[in-house]
Amino acid sequence: MPAPEPTIDVHLDPDWMDRALRADVLAGLTSSPKELPPKWFYDDVGSELFDKITRLVEYYPTEAEREILRERASRIVALSGADTFVELGSGTSDKTRVLLEAFAATGQLRRFVPFDVSEGTLRDAAAMIAATWPRLEVHGVVGDFDHHLAEIPGEGRQLTAFLGGTIGNYKTEARARFLASLADRMSPGDALLLGTDLVKETERLELAYDDPAGVTAAFNKNVLAVINRELDADFDLDAFEHVATFDPDHEWMDLRLRSLAAQSVHIAELDLVVDFGAGEEMRTEVSAKFRPERIEAELEAAGLTLVELWTDQAGDYALSLGRR
Ligand code: SAH
Ligand code: TRP
Repeated sequence: MPAPEPTIDVHLDPDWMDRALRADVLAGLTSSPKELPPKWFYDDVGSELFDKITRLVEYYPTEAEREILRERASRIVALSGADTFVELGSGTSDKTRVLLEAFAATGQLRRFVPFDVSEGTLRDAAAMIAATWPRLEVHGVVGDFDHHLAEIPGEGRQLTAFLGGTIGNYKTEARARFLASLADRMSPGDALLLGTDLVKETERLELAYDDPAGVTAAFNKNVLAVINRELDADFDLDAFEHVATFDPDHEWMDLRLRSLAAQSVHIAELDLVVDFGAGEEMRTEVSAKFRPERIEAELEAAGLTLVELWTDQAGDYALSLGRR
């Protein structure tokens, strides 16, 4: 029997994407210091590069999170009591399969709702999951979690997973706002499973975000290729270098692109010329690293109670279950 087709709702039409990209690029490249928002990394090429990052030995978070999931999946499923499993920033939903297997063992799950800004990746993941679990209702949502959380179907007792440390890509205040809006769409009794990378030695952190093979550098620079293609710009990717440093005051990884020389970039669709000084840096991403106390405090501030927090054996990474 062929697997049932997943339902996919698309809230990001090309027009919306185009307007949002223009606004972000205009604001980011005319501010000082310059900055670009991270969601534009994830076109098809970027999603593929990120998938490669997750398979690098230097990038420990993926395997650390998988280890915790393997160890705790049945506990998470039981604590959640969920019949509806929402995954935010789901990407390939690869690690998520560990949870889906644990759900399958109890027979309690009715629907899986992956949510991502990257439509191609989401469609592929949804199809693979529907093929593996033909009785599961797979309802994908293509959207931006800063704008479309309200479009996620609200029915059922829900477990929402936000894995991969993606929460760390928000700076402190934006993170508080995001967690509050997330808690707001949950019903009392619903659970949040949150993956967070933990503070550790600077050397290991910096290696995880600057691998010798240059995959992370290519991922970071891909945002320039997206702007070249979508806004008819002439960024020379070789004229920028990838910079990854740990900021101990904010306890986040700072990801930047550094202009190797003084240069002007023309962004035709915006009718804009942007000047870069030699050595000028533009931030493309932060990736916050956490301590358990802060995870609990931030969940509490959003109106969620920490039920349990687990780490991998090495203590590199944490998964927390919070309840509304
Ligand atoms: N959960 C996966 C992927 C993490 S990478 C893992 O743990 O490996 C971050 C994911 O979030 C990507 O799939 C990216 O497309 C998605 N994403 C980034 N910004 C987003 C946004 N603003 N709205 C929705 N999805 C976003
Ligand atoms: N959510 C991932 C993280 O913070 C995203 C990421 C991994 C990333 N490596 C990167 C973002 C390099 C920009 C550059 O770990």
